[in-house]
Amino acid sequence: MRFYITTPIYYVNDRPHIGHVYTTTIADIFARYHRLCGNEVFFLTGTDEHAAKVVESAAQHGVTAQDWADRNAQAFQETFRKLGITSDDFIRTSQQRHKDKVLQYVGELLQTGDVYLGEYEGWYDAGQEEYIPENKAKEFDFKSPVNGKPLVRKKEKNYFFRLSKYADALLKLLEENPGFLRPDARRNEIKNRIREGLNDVPISRTGAGGWGIQVPGDTEHVIYVWIDALFNYLSTVDTPERINYWPATVHLIAKDILWFHAVIWPALLLALKRELPRQVYAHSFWIAEGQKMSKSLGNFVDLEKIDRYVADYGLDAFRYFLASHGPLGISDSDFAEARFIEVYNDQLADKMGNLVNRSLTMIQRYRGGVVPGSPEGGLRVDAERAMAAFSDAMVQLDLGGALERVGEFVVRANQYVEESAPWKLAKDPASAGRLDAVLYNLAESVRLISVVVNPVMPTIASQIRAQLNIEGKPGLFTDEARWGRLAAGTKLGTVAPLFPKKV
Ligand code: MSP
Repeated sequence: MRFYITTPIYYVNDRPHIGHVYTTTIADIFARYHRLCGNEVFFLTGTDEHAAKVVESAAQHGVTAQDWADRNAQAFQETFRKLGITSDDFIRTSQQRHKDKVLQYVGELLQTGDVYLGEYEGWYDAGQEEYIPENKAKEFDFKSPVNGKPLVRKKEKNYFFRLSKYADALLKLLEENPGFLRPDARRNEIKNRIREGLNDVPISRTGAGGWGIQVPGDTEHVIYVWIDALFNYLSTVDTPERINYWPATVHLIAKDILWFHAVIWPALLLALKRELPRQVYAHSFWIAEGQKMSKSLGNFVDLEKIDRYVADYGLDAFRYFLASHGPLGISDSDFAEARFIEVYNDQLADKMGNLVNRSLTMIQRYRGGVVPGSPEGGLRVDAERAMAAFSDAMVQLDLGGALERVGEFVVRANQYVEESAPWKLAKDPASAGRLDAVLYNLAESVRLISVVVNPVMPTIASQIRAQLNIEGKPGLFTDEARWGRLAAGTKLGTVAPLFPKKV
């Protein structure tokens, strides 16, 4: 099976922050999971570079727009590398390979008439470089909803995309194919807006000073940055070697850019007669210490903060927190230090770390560090159930649910330790067989935990494997997730705590 997952491409003008890191990390986890399942994975992230703000910032810094974009795109690439992101490509919209394809797509649309030259008049927010719909302009008393400055009545010649033509097809898509847009609540929101009516949308702008992709055959207009950007998902794989990855399995985004992905993008693809992505998944937002993150509050969980968390708790624990407590559903999540520490201490140190450490330590103490043979017994059914539930949840992109199933299994296994009390069995020679069974059950459960946490915490997973002394790379998920693979007689490696408790 092919699995093509994308993240939004991020504006180069911003420094990477927790929001960008979140979406990309979650995509990374799904990509890793599908690779473990033996699927052919293509995982794409990148940067969106043709915004007008790039020209302004570049001028302020006395460099060319391209230099400015290069510098900031690099910051994203370095950040993602540092955070263990395994993307297969990093698309930058200023790259020639992307620009060539966009020219081709817009050329096709001009030919079919789905893109045409027209005139647009409306209320323009100069600060945001966007037109505000009539009703919204009125609601804000014809002032910018962002900076409060008066809106300007502006008229310009523009190239338009015939979005209105696709309203029925889009509604049909959303109705007949509920999986196309998730979570469910987002679908209703979009359906209602489409029912209110769709206007054709301008897809070009003038006065860009040469920064952007020129509309074919027109030196005055460049393609509007959003249209340029959306095409990245297709342009990157639109080569003979990669085209089999299309259509994308899932475009992972947040709710802020849902309209572009759930309406404009599928309409463009319909117009181009290309297959539609299988799914658009729009998660919610991180807030920070109980407050919305914003430029004015200056409270972004920025790279410096992220580095500090990684230094203090480890990259894997940071990834675990994003994955288990992030806003993948329809509610926002709070990135708060107290919450982070609580999750770390409770779920990782006290529960998972403790289970691994006590299990392996008991094998050392009672069996000289050699895993005893005796595959039957207590935990098998729970383990198999947990493995299956984990996989089901992962396939549904229910990452929080998947990790909850793992957490429940960890709790169950710790409970099993208490119930079977190996320290008592060890005192009674008649219970040797029972003790073998308990210790095998625990060692095998620890191995299975290393299998399921691998996509989220790859370093912890290999540390567990090293402690169990299982050589080499793990095999396919379906094989590894089967009970009983750990060979009796395995001599443990060095056992050490995985998650030192924090105060
Ligand atoms: N360049 C456009 C996207 C074009 S995609 C064809 C853009 N870029 S952005 O830099 O603003 O990134 C927006 C995305 O960053 C969101 O959709 C989300 O994936 C991520 N996040 C930004 N802030 C976020 C939070 N506070 N919380 C979670 N993720 C958010 O829009």
